[in-house]
Amino acid sequence: MNPPDQRWWHDQVVYQIYPRSFADSNGDGIGDLPGILARLDHLVALGVGVVWLSPVYRSPMADNGYDISDYRDIAPEFGTLADFDALVAALHARGIRLVMDLVVNHCSDQHPWFAQGRQSRDHPWHGYFIWGEPAGDGGPPNHPPNNWEACFNGPAWTFNPPTGDYFLHLFSPQQPDLDWRCPALRAEVHNIQRFWLARGVDGFRMDVINLIAKPWGDDGRLPDAPVVQPGPVQPAFALVVHGPQLMAYLREMRAEVLSHHDLLTVGEAPLATPAQGREIIDPDTGALGMLFQFEHMDLDCQPGGGKWALKPLHLPDLKASMQRWQDALHGRGWNSLYLGNHDQPRVVSRWGDDGRWRVHSAKLLATWLHGQQGTPYIYQGEELGMSNTPLASIDDCRDIESINHFRAAVQRGQAPAEVMRSIRAKGRDNARTPMAWDASAHGGFSTGTPWLASNPNFTDINAAQARADGDSVFHHYRQLIALRRLHPVWLWGRTVQLLAEHEQVAAYLRVWQDRRLLVLCNFSAEHQCFDLPAEAVLQAPTLLLGNWPAEGDGGASVPAHWRLRPWEARIYLGCAARDTTAGP
Ligand code: GLC
Ligand code: CA
Repeated sequence: MNPPDQRWWHDQVVYQIYPRSFADSNGDGIGDLPGILARLDHLVALGVGVVWLSPVYRSPMADNGYDISDYRDIAPEFGTLADFDALVAALHARGIRLVMDLVVNHCSDQHPWFAQGRQSRDHPWHGYFIWGEPAGDGGPPNHPPNNWEACFNGPAWTFNPPTGDYFLHLFSPQQPDLDWRCPALRAEVHNIQRFWLARGVDGFRMDVINLIAKPWGDDGRLPDAPVVQPGPVQPAFALVVHGPQLMAYLREMRAEVLSHHDLLTVGEAPLATPAQGREIIDPDTGALGMLFQFEHMDLDCQPGGGKWALKPLHLPDLKASMQRWQDALHGRGWNSLYLGNHDQPRVVSRWGDDGRWRVHSAKLLATWLHGQQGTPYIYQGEELGMSNTPLASIDDCRDIESINHFRAAVQRGQAPAEVMRSIRAKGRDNARTPMAWDASAHGGFSTGTPWLASNPNFTDINAAQARADGDSVFHHYRQLIALRRLHPVWLWGRTVQLLAEHEQVAAYLRVWQDRRLLVLCNFSAEHQCFDLPAEAVLQAPTLLLGNWPAEGDGGASVPAHWRLRPWEARIYLGCAARDTTAGP
């Protein structure tokens, strides 16, 4: 990828809004579209160019909107189509584009397609879903077609009495999977996209898009997953991702819809390998602009143990993973860069230090991420350094995933305190606590009782405080956003990892023609001394941004011997010291 191939979303930063938790305009405790509209000044001050809105469609909210019952309407608790149109217009008036969340691996069991289609095998909508006969000689309801486990616990199949067979749901039973083999279903999806494009949206974030093509066997069945755990059900994602027809479905979508517009498209792709990622986003033969890969998000759990089996992050693993994706997509695609979203815990608690070094480490994580090649995504509150919330017990949780996991794990005999330890570290409610706007009740999120309690630290960590304090995490993000657009090396430079094995320091170079960007991050509360290789010695360097006061000469000369202070991060801009042009 080079300057001539630049697309509008290459030099932008995307801000993710989780509408339920962003701003409540009417005191019912639930964030809504008018609430967002009233807070746009925050986004303008930050300087983001794009908003990704988590689902606002009509939904029974079994999974907070990732279970859609009407793809062409807004959930009443979020507002109306008129509110939506007003939001699009207000964002566009401020030069901010809007990306919709498109959830089409599954819909809600309350969607008319399912509510009616499940009544009879002859109903035209029956074919929009995935059905299976009981396995073996056993009768229903306890002999599902295969051994797949649902993402939110239990079997991935639920018996449907009217038709006498089972439907597939990779997530909860309230989220039946759609059958993409059905041409009419695919046409519905394209029309849904056209509907929102006609309303002015600028792109789509596509939920678990690499799960849509199921691994059908020649016998017309979905094969069992390998047995890796005790009990009747087994994790199935590894078998399902990137199915044989995935690219055909996505290329069809590109031809039908996406290619007729200039859009930001990003596909959520759990377990995607770099090769699969490249295939999905190849500018010529692929279909989407970016994807959310999960490799780095899976580094702090025990291999094969799932997200709840905690393991400390080993920094060299994170660096290696990042480098792998930077290399895989450089020149032939575009990375999405993220450390948080509505499904992940708060990164400052996860990989930073949310105590004494909260501000420094939040800035460091931002610097490390934003310095790479790709389009950065900021999850609401990340720009304030919001941290995980003290979930005292499962009663404090609202997320279907945590609640189901708690019940199942305790039933299997795990100690409740132990289960809560994992949920406190990884539970999705951490990211979903109300956005902290100011130090007033509930952080100014709502005049009512929030659907999920505010993180009690809103009195110190909130947007009003952060915007008033020039040295805050917010202003660090603001500077990162502003700087990245100014320097071609930041956009186009190849990433070269330095000190790959160092356990506390992450350092990398960005290389473009004779320009260099040098990013140095001390992921620890101790001082770190180290030497960089000759290629990292820059000519005429300037310190673009740091999170400690500049030392001595303000960074005018870059030494070969380095000393970084606790959680210190710096970005230098300079030229190659020797006359080597390492190519683009
Ligand atoms: C994606 C969403 C997550 C949701 C799941 C099922 O991973 O990000 O929030 O629960 O898909 O739709
Ligand atoms: Ca509300």
